[in-house]
Amino acid sequence: MSEITLVKEPIEQWGGKWTEQKLDAFSKYVWSYLTIMKKYPYWQTIYFDGFAGSGSRKKIKNELFVQLKLSAEDEIVYKGSAERVLNIKDNLKFNYYYFIDTNKNSILKLEEKLKSLKSSRDKKLAFRDGDSNKWLMELASTLKTNKFAALVLLDPFGMQINWNSIQSLKGTRSDIWILVPTGVIVNRLLDRKGKLLLRSKLESFFGLDEKSIREEFYETKTEDTLFGETEITRKVLEPIEKIANLYLRRLNTIWKFTIEKPLRLNNNHGFPIFHFAFASNNKNAVKIASQIIKGV
Ligand SMILES: C[S@@+](CC[C@H](N)C(=O)[O-])C[C@H]1O[C@@H](n2cnc3c(N)ncnc32)[C@H](O)[C@@H]1O
Repeated sequence: MSEITLVKEPIEQWGGKWTEQKLDAFSKYVWSYLTIMKKYPYWQTIYFDGFAGSGSRKKIKNELFVQLKLSAEDEIVYKGSAERVLNIKDNLKFNYYYFIDTNKNSILKLEEKLKSLKSSRDKKLAFRDGDSNKWLMELASTLKTNKFAALVLLDPFGMQINWNSIQSLKGTRSDIWILVPTGVIVNRLLDRKGKLLLRSKLESFFGLDEKSIREEFYETKTEDTLFGETEITRKVLEPIEKIANLYLRRLNTIWKFTIEKPLRLNNNHGFPIFHFAFASNNKNAVKIASQIIKGV
């Protein structure tokens, strides 16, 4: 895999249990969020989906599907984050919905799909193409008017989000769910012998300089070897959990509270590929998110 591919779209594709777990936790949180926000009508609510996708995915027909000879109608239709948010039960809704995707075709497809849904008829939807980093900055300046509260979902597969964009949300009334590519990408960029592959990408992702990143993930010791004293650099144990932990600590410099244990998403072999993290300035919101995670 080339370095560029590593950062943008890892080999792990959609599907499997982990996608469902992530979207399930998120939808449950949206319901709680809207239920609570109903009590605070002063705040105009914004839903911001920074990596909204096209709303569909290629479904790989597995062996069982073929054996059962299911018709197309029987196939479970994939519902991405966008559709799930519009279909939240109890008629709960945000005042504004923003769907962003860098891929123009995807956002057009999503717009067509969502506008055809009955659940979208009474809602204000906006679709924007372009880099989510840019739109996050716009969101931040809107939130600084102190009239809006936003629920932000950042669901990329790669390391597209720069720390600067996250930082722009400091001091705003925002709750954020973010998919961190801990095992699938970041860990692979932390070479075992201490070389940081794509150093500047790692720096902009964590918002930390090379030295600070090294201190988190490597230990250097002087050891006696056959050839005299030699400096040996070793990568820390359990680096994937430590990547998740560092990202949470970084989020905690922007929001007052973060969940203690993010949702760990494993691939089919039980290997952790992503962590789904949450942060907010509201203690109760974090409590709710933690309870939801425990239940999925
Ligand atoms: C994992 S998919 C989104 C899945 C979606 N949340 C769902 O549940 O169906 C990631 C999407 O991010 C988009 N993307 C990649 N880089 C981006 C960027 N810098 N800004 C905005 N969108 C980006 C891709 O085009 C892709 O459609």
